[in-house]
Amino acid sequence: MERLRFFLNDRPVEETGLSPTTTLLRYLRERAHLSGTKEGCAEGDCGACSVAVLEQDGRGAPTLRAVNACLVLLPMVQGKRVYTVEALKEGGRYHVVQETLAKELGSQCGYCTPGVAMAMLEACHRKDLDEPWKLDAQMCGNLCRCTGYRPIREAASQVAGQCPPDRFSRALEETRPESMALRYEAGAQRFFTPDSREALWEVLEAWPEARFVVGGTDLSLDVTKRHAEPPLLVSLEALPELRVLEPHEGGHRLGAAVRLTDLEDYARTACPPLERMLRYFGSRQIKNRATLGGNLCTASPIGDLAPVLLALGAEAVLLSREGERRVALDDFFSGYRRTALGRGEVLAWVDVPAQPEGTRAVAYKVSKRRELDISSVSAGFRVVVDGEGQVVEARLAYGGMAATPSRARRTEAALVGRRWTEAVVEEALGRLEEDFTPLSDHRGSEWYRARVAKNLLRGFFHETLAEPMPRLGERHTATVQVR
Ligand SMILES: Cc1cc2nc3c(=O)[nH]c(=O)nc-3n(C[C@H](O)[C@H](O)[C@H](O)COP(=O)(O)OP(=O)(O)OC[C@H]3O[C@@H](n4cnc5c(N)ncnc54)[C@H](O)[C@@H]3O)c2cc1C
Ligand code: FES
Ligand code: FES
Repeated sequence: MERLRFFLNDRPVEETGLSPTTTLLRYLRERAHLSGTKEGCAEGDCGACSVAVLEQDGRGAPTLRAVNACLVLLPMVQGKRVYTVEALKEGGRYHVVQETLAKELGSQCGYCTPGVAMAMLEACHRKDLDEPWKLDAQMCGNLCRCTGYRPIREAASQVAGQCPPDRFSRALEETRPESMALRYEAGAQRFFTPDSREALWEVLEAWPEARFVVGGTDLSLDVTKRHAEPPLLVSLEALPELRVLEPHEGGHRLGAAVRLTDLEDYARTACPPLERMLRYFGSRQIKNRATLGGNLCTASPIGDLAPVLLALGAEAVLLSREGERRVALDDFFSGYRRTALGRGEVLAWVDVPAQPEGTRAVAYKVSKRRELDISSVSAGFRVVVDGEGQVVEARLAYGGMAATPSRARRTEAALVGRRWTEAVVEEALGRLEEDFTPLSDHRGSEWYRARVAKNLLRGFFHETLAEPMPRLGERHTATVQVR
């Protein structure tokens, strides 16, 4: 069996004997004695544990990304370069991120500061922070209870895109990608990362009960919150074909192991309704690890990507040793947190078909807090309206309204063949009550959900009158304005 190998602050590290479900955060603080990285929530919400990882982006280019060390399991950094806050000071000199944070008074008690600095480090080495909302999205995964966010945001805006000639720039230039392939065992636990389909099928033949993982933003909570010790995890992160993002038969092929950061960049021009949903999906650190496949395979009734992909008529492409199986996303969710995946099958791609002329499509997420919250109700809508103004197809999908993300089939039927007018939409809304009987819980009562579901469809009608696939405005997502 192999060793865990990675670079920590540019120093090569090899480890054996550690549980594969040791989080990177625990490793850093307890084994590597790098206690600059802090623990706040241990569930991806506060950003205190942010570190930077140098890895390849969706196009294979080296990139530096902030991630939540509390959700990263140690084998997930195999072959990668991990940087902690201790790596910022170089040759006795503070990094521009540290200097600016201090100058702007962005730190008081200092607990959040290492995490804030590492999120700022990513900003410092990004070349695409050309609009204010992107900076807000970059920093929104870091909570601070002391300073107020204005000084932190001001400091971040000053360093964004500077790309100074620091150790990180040198590493970005000089680092050649190393293999993530791994067969690791410690005690009764195993962690495998196959880097080819053949290697994956071999593992699954020997251990058909293996549990898959990619970003770990869902699965790691079992470890940190429920103290689970899964005996065998198989990571799909190193299979290059699962990370494709490309035009496909007039539409798009989206790899299941694609990170949501990369998907959001791609969708910005390729698929505006998907981009809209991704704007309000978790923090930058979460999207730097979370994947499309992980989101769909958890089959959560409030998973945010399902409604929009259902509305767009997407198909799931499943792979096993036997070959390829295509399943309409409508049939992928087979019950509460259950999918159509069989034993030995992985979700490989999601194919979004070409959208016909006359398509109007939008996605909505409604949550108690606008940013970084779990949906109370979400929706993806698409109608196709012909030259005479008649609806020829309607796909109205909702999250948070039933045990699975589901389409409102009766409401759809009430629209097809009718003119796309406000009066017809109002009439069709009456059918929504036949489609869904939502639950009441702490995120919303049955009455509230039913009401919101109707209002979203109304909003869709009005919002798409002028623009068939409207993008979100460039509004600030933070609650403070820059000086
Ligand atoms: C702080 C925080 C904020 C979040 N915010 C949001 C949000 O705004 N909206 C939202 O919808 N979700 C959110 N999530 C949930 C989670 O991040 C997403 O569902 C994410 O997309 C999961 O992807 P992953 O790769 O990390 O999944 P993992 O944790 O790696 O895997 C999740 C499950 O899917 C299975 N799986 C993964 N990939 C495959 C595959 N290709 N084939 C077969 N099975 C597979 C795994 O076996 C596992 O059971 C959040 C989570 C956290 C911790
Ligand atoms: S400790 Fe809060 S995000 Fe990791
Ligand atoms: S400075 Fe105290 S939590 Fe941010």
